Amino acid sequence: MLNWESIFATRSNRMRASEIRELLKLLDRPEIISFAGGIPDPELFPNDAFKEAYAEIFGGPTVGAALQYSVSEGYRPLREWLAGQMAAIGIPASVDNIFITSGSQQGLDYLGKLFLSPKDTALVTWPTYLGALQAFNAYEPTYDQLNPAGNRTPGAYAQAAEEGGGRVKFAYLSADFANPTGETVDRAGRERVLALAEELDIAVIEDAAYQSLRYDGEAVPPILALEIARKGDINNTRTIYCGSFSKTLAPGLRVGWICAAEPVIRKLVLMKQAADLHSSTINQMAIATVAERGFDEQVKKIHGAYRQRRNAMLLALERYMPAGVTWTKPEGGMFIWVTLPKGTDGAELLAKSIETAKVAFVPGRAFFADGSGENTLRLSFSCANGRMIDEGIRRLGDLVRGEVAQAA
Ligand SMILES: Cc1ncc(COP(=O)(O)O)c(C=O)c1O
Repeated sequence: MLNWESIFATRSNRMRASEIRELLKLLDRPEIISFAGGIPDPELFPNDAFKEAYAEIFGGPTVGAALQYSVSEGYRPLREWLAGQMAAIGIPASVDNIFITSGSQQGLDYLGKLFLSPKDTALVTWPTYLGALQAFNAYEPTYDQLNPAGNRTPGAYAQAAEEGGGRVKFAYLSADFANPTGETVDRAGRERVLALAEELDIAVIEDAAYQSLRYDGEAVPPILALEIARKGDINNTRTIYCGSFSKTLAPGLRVGWICAAEPVIRKLVLMKQAADLHSSTINQMAIATVAERGFDEQVKKIHGAYRQRRNAMLLALERYMPAGVTWTKPEGGMFIWVTLPKGTDGAELLAKSIETAKVAFVPGRAFFADGSGENTLRLSFSCANGRMIDEGIRRLGDLVRGEVAQAA
């Protein structure tokens, strides 16, 4: 029998099943109230708009093109629509600055592939999006902690990377309603990240997967917009913006985009030619049609539903969580991040919770590149209704109260 491990490349050593995906498999049980999966509510997908768009494609003159191979950059009318969207959020960009990906996850994989040689350093927040760690891990980097609230000196980062045998290549962050914390980096924090990147002469990867999901408060300009305001032209910038239709229209179509300086886009196009030639032509066409006809209306619908659920979860946490437990108060997105008293273990709590309280969530440790964060957990409110939220948080609060009392 072939010893597969002996022929797997070293880059496969860090590929492990995501704790979250494994969990999701177990959570179909009807008795469990789940705040675990960070997925959009399927009830909110614009089904009718997609049905109409696909019917028009199949019944019209473009069906041949829709089912045919297409260019690696992406479907031009979609890129044109996106250029308009980017301009509206302070990012004047031409179609040549926009590249379509098969979900923003593919963008993260490509950027890892483009920048990271083994032992190079990626700066990430602690915690950060687990999928980004998974994407980057394949390129065998080390991680160092990015802290928009106040970073170490550029020299300290550079020295640590050099001691590890590589150099710092980029800072990755989700500046709006991050997965897993729900938190937003303020303008000063964004400027600090940019200043650090300039000092280190590295790229900034701005993961904007949740940017359109703001329910209240003032929008903060994207990092790329702040940089263009200073440099005058997107082609002089170092920030690479990763967008997604997954949280606004539908994740199953796998359509996202990257907006960045042309030299980066040109490299990404070559990578796509080698990897999958192009993203699904017909899905890009359907997304373009649905987005052109009703993107704003769809986003408004999502805001209404998720705002209500976020409010319900914040209220329930206030009502049921014992003293010593704290949580974030996100202005958008899908997540609330809970910090339990020190000494409480989120993974152990989950095992007990599944058994007794019958409530699921994601233990926070998986989101930390250094394996810390054991006393944290991520709650998602996107797929739960008000009754489930109140009941689920009540049961979780009872469980946590018992744990905290036992530890004291
Ligand atoms: C922060 C963040 N970035 C990127 C993604 C990937 O999304 P997609 O590939 O569906 O665009 C997700 C998905 O959950 C996410 O939470």
